[in-house]
Amino acid sequence: MLIYREILIVANPDELNHRAAQEFVSRADKAIQAKGFFTVVLSGGSTPRGLYTMLASDLYREQVSWPDVYLFWGDERCVLPDHPDSNYRMAYESLICRVPIPKEHVYRIPAEHEDHTQAAMEYEHTLKAFFHLNEGEIPRFDLILLGMGDDGHTASLFPFSSALDTTSRLVIPNYVGKLETYRITLTVPVINQAAEVMFLISGELKAPVLREVLEGDYQPRRLPTQFIQPVNGRLLFIADHTAAGKLTQIGD
Ligand code: 6PG
Repeated sequence: MLIYREILIVANPDELNHRAAQEFVSRADKAIQAKGFFTVVLSGGSTPRGLYTMLASDLYREQVSWPDVYLFWGDERCVLPDHPDSNYRMAYESLICRVPIPKEHVYRIPAEHEDHTQAAMEYEHTLKAFFHLNEGEIPRFDLILLGMGDDGHTASLFPFSSALDTTSRLVIPNYVGKLETYRITLTVPVINQAAEVMFLISGELKAPVLREVLEGDYQPRRLPTQFIQPVNGRLLFIADHTAAGKLTQIGD
């Protein structure tokens, strides 16, 4: 299955953070110029910490009109927001507490709820209210940041997990067998509705799976990153040299 995507290979993680920050600034500027605000979905894990820190640095902080930015998350671990594993906590420490974004513009996933279904429903309601959605409508974010695990998962869409089959919801709980835990995640249709999806991929551990995802057979249940194909948006992979080390079909 051929889909249109852009693959940008950069020298190292620092260059990845700079290019991602420049893309973030550019998308934010375009959206704010066009409609007065910018909606962005943050990714979790560890790779994005470098981007968030870069965005909060003197190099980039002033290039974003933070009062016009609205932050959301692509997924969250089922822990308290101050837990070391919390995606919210990582973004708060590296970005949110360092830029002038109004706290009411930060839409955290309430994943600490004991009732995971309730947590997902609450966040789905938040999205429907923010985007003024009618029943069945899907929100279109200006930018969705994603990472990819070395098993090909993205957000909390893990291989062969039940979340991969859910197309009628915006947000769902997903049991991750290998981690023996639940996660709360946006669903594939929401991610594919974005104006732009930007993957940030770094490190040689990702090289084998990145080659499978980009150059191998279309097996999205085994490699959920392959499900990500914006229906009317840009798909951009930014990978450093080590993560792209096994790619064979990249032009010079
Ligand atoms: C999470 C992320 C997850 C992450 C990948 C890659 O909650 O962990 O949303 O999908 O993006 O696991 O993580 P790294 O980029 O840190 O390797």
